[in-house]
Amino acid sequence: MIPRITGFLHGGDYNPDQWLDRPDILEKDIELMHAAHVNCVSVGIFSWAMLEPEEGKYDFAWLDQVIDRLYKGGIYVILATPSAARPAWMAQHHEEVLRVNTQHLRMHFGERHNHCLTSPYYREKVRQINTALAQRYAAHPAVILWHLGNEFGGECHCPLCQQAFRDWLKEKYTTLENLNQKWWTAFWSHRYTDWAQIEAPSLLTDRSNLAMRVDWQRFMSHQCKTFIAAEREAVQSVSPKLPCTANLMERFWDYDYFSLAESMDIVSWDSYPEWHNEDNIAEAAEFAMNHDLMRSLKKQPFLLMESTPSQVNWKPRNKLKRPGMHLLSSLQAVAHGSDSVQYFQWRKGRGGSEMFHGAVVGHDGTGDTRVFRDVAQVGKTLEKLEKAVYQKPVKAQVCILFDWENRWAIDFAQTGQKGNMRYFDTVNMHYRALWEKGIAVDFCDMRESTDLTGYKLVIAPMLFMLRGGMEEKLRDYVQNGGALVMTYFSGMVDEYDLACLGEAPHGLTDVLGIRATELDALYPGQENGLVTEEGRYGITELCEILQLKGAKVLGTYESDFYAGSPCLTHHTFGKGQSWYLAAKTEQAGLNALYGHIADALEIDKALPDQLPCGVVAAKRGDCVFVQNYTHRAQTLQLTGKWINLLTDVPAEAEIAPFGVWVLQKA
Ligand code: GAL
Repeated sequence: MIPRITGFLHGGDYNPDQWLDRPDILEKDIELMHAAHVNCVSVGIFSWAMLEPEEGKYDFAWLDQVIDRLYKGGIYVILATPSAARPAWMAQHHEEVLRVNTQHLRMHFGERHNHCLTSPYYREKVRQINTALAQRYAAHPAVILWHLGNEFGGECHCPLCQQAFRDWLKEKYTTLENLNQKWWTAFWSHRYTDWAQIEAPSLLTDRSNLAMRVDWQRFMSHQCKTFIAAEREAVQSVSPKLPCTANLMERFWDYDYFSLAESMDIVSWDSYPEWHNEDNIAEAAEFAMNHDLMRSLKKQPFLLMESTPSQVNWKPRNKLKRPGMHLLSSLQAVAHGSDSVQYFQWRKGRGGSEMFHGAVVGHDGTGDTRVFRDVAQVGKTLEKLEKAVYQKPVKAQVCILFDWENRWAIDFAQTGQKGNMRYFDTVNMHYRALWEKGIAVDFCDMRESTDLTGYKLVIAPMLFMLRGGMEEKLRDYVQNGGALVMTYFSGMVDEYDLACLGEAPHGLTDVLGIRATELDALYPGQENGLVTEEGRYGITELCEILQLKGAKVLGTYESDFYAGSPCLTHHTFGKGQSWYLAAKTEQAGLNALYGHIADALEIDKALPDQLPCGVVAAKRGDCVFVQNYTHRAQTLQLTGKWINLLTDVPAEAEIAPFGVWVLQKA
């Protein structure tokens, strides 16, 4: 993935530009990095004001020294482009770089991550500095990877973005007539007669045109993608072989990450779980899914670009990681496909908003802290696991469809639990049922290139929007022997967010053997039940009413005017089969459903054994990572003989609180 690198990266964001008047500290950093088993740091992420103190005047002398010092110390450098925060002089003299918010107010200088992605001036300045950085450092033996910008996000409503949106729409729809039709503007007299009348959806304009809102998200996502692509082109025009990444975020909504990933060579992301909250296991399930999603964006290992060695400083409550949790959460990322464990940040700064954010080295400046020792332990562990795990694939037989355009369309839909349909959480509940069983999962979206062949099971929770020919793909997949799980609120609109005419889920009623006729929303606190042969599972939020078209009923509604009607069905179609779940059941309902399906389809599990609640196993290569997310020691009885690679001795019966094992067959 990264030429010259043959093992895990371990390190983090390094901001020596804050310490240039303290050469003693900069020297000490290298010594401490060795002690912490750190081999790689990211440099220059927010350094634009230091690199170009005046317009057109670069100062690289300090960075030369930093990179040379790291190189001499045997530390690799991930070199950042500085586009995530611009210098004050630029904001002062070139207003167009400043974003305009949804109330059409232009922001002033300050903060970060708030530049206009369209501004030709900003793009040109980024191109110039990226090119200059590449000319100076791309061939430096310490530099292994480009870190483009930082955590791209947000939207801008400036006149340049408005015009670019119109141009993008013209390209997409060709004629206003076509746009009017696809946006259903005959409703409420919203018909456009001039492209110039179109304004991006905002608090001051139109938020009722749902199709336009989905298009606006697509457009902003496209702007970000082309921005990243332009950054990459600038650095790779100098040195085509040095790969590029951009660090992504959890639960991120604004841009389509599957699409953004096409503009980078390697996916990386920043992971900040809220450990030790009231449901640590749910947190672990959510972050396991985040890791798998990141791995799925390019179907290759990813990099954990940021995590905290102890606590963050931006949550309402910033809890410390309990003993064991640092190694456990770091190895969770590795188990799901990460080839690095990186932190924000190496050393705590003395001021600024992040002076109290967890860092490897604190204000005491020593290696004599619990946090530092935890970090060193992760470094040593990664060295140990290199041969068995680095670059090894995670092989999944299950694919969950998770699609950003579908997500936007669901969130804009004015129905059901309006504005709170909980797509991400619902996908995570389906995921969790498999994760708890040690079943590996890939994610795919609905782009045309998505290929479902080879998966034993495809899960499509809330596939409200169908695009990219997904209904045909799902039909062929089942016809040819695949197994599909689909849920309520699926197959309702097309890629333009126009309701599909005819029976729902569109184009799939014969594949599923049912037809969805109505969607009921429950008030908070109200519950229905799914009643199956085995038991009863609570239902909240959403209940869809079904009409049978050949499917077998596996479960029915417990109450209300649709009591006794089908809620869970099974159908055979061609050589394959499908399940349809019409309501939002509690987790136990999904666990039971996937228990049956996994057994029936003989889906591989990391371990054949039933593990105690809160202990999960995940497989990468031929290593099984057993993880205890509870604060209690747990007793495990494993079939077969296993060596724990972390201790080089056979796995014991008891796993420590927040303990982790990496097992290989003895
Ligand atoms: C990330 C960001 C870092 C730092 C960190 C703190 O989102 O990329 O620069 O702010 O959060 O947790």
